[in-house]
Amino acid sequence: MIAERPIAPAPTDWRDGLPALTGAMATLRELRPSDAPALLAMLSSEEVMRFISPAPVTVQGFERFIDWSLRERAQGTHVCFAVIPHGMDAPVGIFQVRQLQPGFATAEWGFALASAFWGTGLFTDAARLVADFAFDVVDVHRLEARAAVLNGRGIGALRKIGAVPEGILRKSLLRNGEYLDQALWTILDEDWRALRIASGFKVH
Ligand SMILES: CC(C)(COP(=O)(O)OP(=O)(O)OC[C@H]1O[C@@H](n2cnc3c(N)ncnc32)[C@H](O)[C@@H]1OP(=O)(O)O)[C@@H](O)C(=O)NCCC(=O)NCCS
Repeated sequence: MIAERPIAPAPTDWRDGLPALTGAMATLRELRPSDAPALLAMLSSEEVMRFISPAPVTVQGFERFIDWSLRERAQGTHVCFAVIPHGMDAPVGIFQVRQLQPGFATAEWGFALASAFWGTGLFTDAARLVADFAFDVVDVHRLEARAAVLNGRGIGALRKIGAVPEGILRKSLLRNGEYLDQALWTILDEDWRALRIASGFKVH
């Protein structure tokens, strides 16, 4: 006789493990330790890193980042999704969301995709999934992004999905020995829901 195995229930709390989110172009899922080499290959170019906080420069560095990320998620302070285009099995980018105050009411997100995927629609597809997750599941009220004012692509991407500029954070990002100005771009939960209805975004 075959013993019946108990079926482990799927996690219902994101702190126990992130769900996979499926869009038109990609699936977003939790990072895995085995993603480190792909993340290094996809994200360590000068053009990707030019306007963002320094990222790891070795596979071991990305392994430590993934480890840290999983611990922070378990503590309920940070989530990081890997972006896997349909038809691929390794990530080509990441989206991070971290709480700026206890309870995640105000959060900051950041994202990076390999430059081969810029301008393909992958950003919009993934950003909608992450924003839906942040507002609907994590209960974020205000989602902030800091974008270097010289980062035309990053700002164009934020503007396109409905983020609103609020002000300049003078000399707030140190890059290559130089302090750069950043702008604060925000989306409120009520704005996102209104945009979603107006544009007929699919709610996941
Ligand atoms: C930020 C990022 C994920 C956006 O993805 P993307 O695929 O490049 O974004 P999209 O092409 O969908 O959107 C960018 C928009 O900015 C526009 N744009 C590009 N260069 C621009 C510039 N110099 N000035 C103004 N707008 C610009 C593009 O035309 C596009 O708008 P459109 O789709 O209406 O034509 C990607 O560029 C990236 O990984 N950059 C490096 C990491 C980074 O800087 N992250 C922080 C962002 S704040």
